[in-house]
Amino acid sequence: MIYHRKPNWMIKENLVTDETLLLNRRKLLAGMGIGAGAAALGLGAEAATPEAPFTPMPGLNSNFEDAGRGITAESITSKYNNFYEFGSSKRIAAEAQKLSTDDWVVEIDGMVNKPFQIGIEDLLKRTGVEERIYRHRCVEAWSMVVPWIGFPMAKLIDLAQPMSGAKYIRFETFMDTKVAKEQKVRWYPWPYVEGFTMAEATNDLAFMVVGAYGKVLHKQFGAPLRVHMPWKFGFKSIKSIVKVTFTDERPVGFWENLIALEYGFWANVNPAVDHPRWSQATEKPLDSDGRIPTHIFNGYGEHVAHLYEGMDDLGDRLWR
Ligand code: MTE
Repeated sequence: MIYHRKPNWMIKENLVTDETLLLNRRKLLAGMGIGAGAAALGLGAEAATPEAPFTPMPGLNSNFEDAGRGITAESITSKYNNFYEFGSSKRIAAEAQKLSTDDWVVEIDGMVNKPFQIGIEDLLKRTGVEERIYRHRCVEAWSMVVPWIGFPMAKLIDLAQPMSGAKYIRFETFMDTKVAKEQKVRWYPWPYVEGFTMAEATNDLAFMVVGAYGKVLHKQFGAPLRVHMPWKFGFKSIKSIVKVTFTDERPVGFWENLIALEYGFWANVNPAVDHPRWSQATEKPLDSDGRIPTHIFNGYGEHVAHLYEGMDDLGDRLWR
C-alpha cells in the first residue's frame, strides 16, 4: 500500500525542531541494510539492560518517517509520563525503575487455536522490529512525537492464530503490588486493561512497542512491551503487557471501567467532541509553549477513517 507521507494538514514552522538531522541519521542507518531480525537479536542480547541501545539500529519504516512536526526530545517525554501503577503524577520515572523486566513472558489465550506463553526475545525473533515516528495525543490535551521501535500488531495476531469467531483483542498489564504501590489503591480497577476490534488491531498503524529513541524501552514508557495506537487517545496505548486475550466480548478498559462517561471504548481522537474536563479542539505539544489544532484521528484519517464508516452519530461514536 502506498501512503502519502505528508499529512494533509500543516503546523506552524516554528514548532518544527531540528528533525532533518535526526532523519538523515536514521535514513543512513536504514540504508545500511540493517535487518529487523538482526535488530531483534541485538535486543535479545541487551534485554536485561533497559535503555540499552539497539545494536544494530532497526530500519526506519519510510511510510511512517514524517510525523509532520519534529520529534519531541527524549529528555522531555521520558520525564512526563502516565503510568498510574507507579503514581498519579507525571513524575513516575524513578518509581517505575522498580519494575523488573527480566525474563518477561507474555501469555496468549482466549479464542486461539492453542494458548501459549512466549518470552520477549523469542517474540522478537518471530516478528522482527522496525522504527516508526508517531504522533501521540493524550485526552488531557498534551501531545508529543516519538520514534518508537516495535512491530505491527498484525504480526502478533498472525503468531497467535485466533479463531474466526474472535472479534476483539484484549491486553492486560502486569499486577504486582510489591513493585507498583498504586496497585494497592482499591478503587482503581487493576490490572490496567485495554482492547480493540480485530479490524483496528490488524490495521497497519497498530504497533507493538519495545523501544524508543533507538534504545530498549524506558521502564516509564511501559517496558518491555506496550501498544501504540496513534489515532486514539493515549490511554488506549497500554503499557507493560503480560497477557493478550482474543475474545468475542468487547473488553472494558481500565478508564472506561472507572468512569464510563468520560472514557469510552473507541476513544478516537476527535476535536469536535470534548471530554467533560478538557476541550479537545487544540493540544499543547510538550516541547512548545503554544497550542496547535487537533485533527480528527490525530491526522491519521487516511489510514483508519474507513474502520468507522457507517457509524451514524459520528462525533459521539468516535468518542465513546
Ligand atoms: N498503561 C498502563 N498500564 N498504565 C497507565 O497508567 N496510561 C495511559 C497509557 N498506558 C497508562 C498506560 C495514558 S493515560 C497515556 S497518555 C499513555 O500511556 C502515556 O504514555 P507515555 O507515558 O509513554 O507518554
